[in-house]
Amino acid sequence: MSDRAIETLLDEERRFPPHPEFASRANATAELYDLEPEEFWAREARERVTWFDDFSTVSEWKLPYARWFLGGTLNVAYNCVDRHVEAGLGNRVAYFWEGEPEGERSSLTYAELQQQVVRMANVLKELGVRKGTKVAIYLGMVVELPIAMLACTRLGAPHTVVFGGFSADSLSDRANDMGCEVLITQDEAWRRGSTVPLKRTADEAMAAAPGIHACLVVRRTGHDVSMQDGRDHWLHDFDVPDDPASCPCEPMDAEDLLFLMYTSGTTAKPKGITHTTGGYLVGAATTHHYAFDLKPTTDVYWCAADIGWITGHSYIVYGPLCNGATSVLYEGTPDFPDKARWWALVERYGVTILYTAPTAIRAHMKWGPEHAAGHDLSSLRLLGSVGEPINPEAWIWYHEQVGGGRCPIVDTWWQTETGMILITPLPGVTTTKPGSATKPFPGIRAAVVNEQGEKVEQGGGYLVLEEPWPAMTRGIHGDDERFRSTYWERFPGVYFAGDGARIDADGDFWLLGRVDDVMNVSGHRISTIEVESALVDHQRVAEAAVCGRADPTTGQAIVAYVTLKGGEDGSLEMLEELRDHVARKIGPIAKPANIVFTPELPKTRSGKIMRRLLRDIAENRPLGDTTTLADPSVVSEIAAQAAAAPAED
Ligand code: PRX
Repeated sequence: MSDRAIETLLDEERRFPPHPEFASRANATAELYDLEPEEFWAREARERVTWFDDFSTVSEWKLPYARWFLGGTLNVAYNCVDRHVEAGLGNRVAYFWEGEPEGERSSLTYAELQQQVVRMANVLKELGVRKGTKVAIYLGMVVELPIAMLACTRLGAPHTVVFGGFSADSLSDRANDMGCEVLITQDEAWRRGSTVPLKRTADEAMAAAPGIHACLVVRRTGHDVSMQDGRDHWLHDFDVPDDPASCPCEPMDAEDLLFLMYTSGTTAKPKGITHTTGGYLVGAATTHHYAFDLKPTTDVYWCAADIGWITGHSYIVYGPLCNGATSVLYEGTPDFPDKARWWALVERYGVTILYTAPTAIRAHMKWGPEHAAGHDLSSLRLLGSVGEPINPEAWIWYHEQVGGGRCPIVDTWWQTETGMILITPLPGVTTTKPGSATKPFPGIRAAVVNEQGEKVEQGGGYLVLEEPWPAMTRGIHGDDERFRSTYWERFPGVYFAGDGARIDADGDFWLLGRVDDVMNVSGHRISTIEVESALVDHQRVAEAAVCGRADPTTGQAIVAYVTLKGGEDGSLEMLEELRDHVARKIGPIAKPANIVFTPELPKTRSGKIMRRLLRDIAENRPLGDTTTLADPSVVSEIAAQAAAAPAED
């Protein structure tokens, strides 16, 4: 976050107290904050989740590893689907699905969801999936995606969902790291009016993932794709039963692995963040209930994220379904076929709760308020934000232009590792401030500490969590050392999130962005080193350094400084080639917005690249101290190149 943005936050004086009428019906009450964490979580665990065997111990913390609800057994698919049908709610809609091509829509009741989950689980069994078999899922936003996740959880098979925008390399790396044996994908996905060749990319990935012996393919566009005999199977070709008795829900231990979600860290290798069954479900469902004030019989809830990220896991699939919610699932982009698409959806389904990212809000701001104004958005009663710091200007726009000035906004801070929202206003309880995520959720102990690890009562520092919480990651798959060093070493005894934060006189938290070499582009975490590795993988690149610069829409944009082999000069063609190369290696989200070609990178005498200077250049700031550089003249040269370099529009 830029200094100017931080100053704006410091000046923010506007206050939005809860509306008394909202407060009188709110799920949350101020008393929740008075409960001790264990008391709160034990109560919520029994309130929101059905256990096959009740747990005997609430939590146990052998630093850094926590375990929750010990002795408890449960099944996630049972909690998300079967128990609602058994309770007579089979006719309630679980998802209103809307395809990107206009006019394609369907709804799926809980009873239909159950049939489809059972059917897919029976298919997976025919492909050899059993309790413990690892499954990779590479699907777009089709109903088969939550169905596939639930089918895995029904069988006790851990999954990893890989975002459909990721490359073949990204998919095979994840599948290999986890040890996946089966892959679920689709022929193609629709995106902004064109098709994304998921099966073709999956084929490339499978060529590099020998552990995958079976591939289940969902038909979406219906176009021809190649199918390998013996390995690839169409989902619709199977004739298997769909009654729940044909595939009972596997009882799982609370601490059994539920899924891995890979996320970027400060090295080139993404880390497999583990989430287990009981704590994760309790955390996702409880936060969904209180932070979104969900009323399952009357609300239509829409989280506009992609299920391929943690937000979609916790707040499109597991939290909402566990709570028996009716959700909207939208396949496409917000500007297809026009910029009013989202608002047409809100009006059509009568959406009452909308959860999205500041990047999306800022894109809508840029497109103008007329698109929202052209639709009836009066059904909305609560708005949420996630993924990056929300600037007060975007907060106010969201509040006024989307929420009509009447909807509370919950700015929710959390991470892939936390599994659930940790810092958020409680609607109906908390007085909100534009730009502040306000208070730790009940049962959560967060703090801001200084460089020495001492607690800051008021002022800036590093965000830490002082006590474990149910949905916290149980570690990085196969890398205990990295888990300890990333989160637990900098400030011993507490979890270090990697974010800077400020705490104000009211004890409210203001998130200030990452303090490590991780960029946040459109709410997606991308490591500078991952992009650098993709660049130097190109045969003509000698060296590359990457940093983020502030961007008015996407939060941050990626800037790359590249030295070509043999002192070659850069060209526009080379620039495009390198951007495409990064897209092929990682995925289009990691494409640098600017590439600056330079004969040399600024390095210290010991050879360390000085990223701070590169960030200063990228953000047009006066250059700080350059005296430690081996060759101080390099920076003025780069600055001149940067000023001349074209940027992506
Ligand atoms: O820097 C914080 C930012 O996103 C990071 C987590 O990214 P990821 O694991 O991809 O999960 C994103 C969705 C939960 C955090 O370390 N972040 C997330 N929410 C906020 C935020 N920064 C400020 N305010 C938020 N509400």
